Amino acid sequence: MSHIVTANCNDCKYTDCCVVCPVECFYQDDTMLYIDPQDCIDCEACVPECPVEAIFAEANTPAQWTSYIQLNAEKCAALKGSGDGHITEKQDAKEGPGCTGKK
Ligand code: F3S
Repeated sequence: MSHIVTANCNDCKYTDCCVVCPVECFYQDDTMLYIDPQDCIDCEACVPECPVEAIFAEANTPAQWTSYIQLNAEKCAALKGSGDGHITEKQDAKEGPGCTGKK
């Protein structure tokens, strides 16, 4: 089990989530953040931090976003492998045009 970052993070990247993660399991690309299922311990600390409710327990991922389960795993594996994208500190929110859940 793991927690999953889903569609609402797209182009928003508020990054409040990664700051509270005790196992530092968040990775990012230009689009959004992802949780590494290899490292996530399901503590749920990140869930209430996200202002656009993008993070769900894997088992509770809304049906329309279940593809994000594999996406989080694949992106983290690739980013980790490249030594790029690890994020543990807050950065300025992206809030791009595709960010539909703006604060
Ligand atoms: Fe994305 Fe929410 Fe974190 S918008 S970067 S999952 S706080």
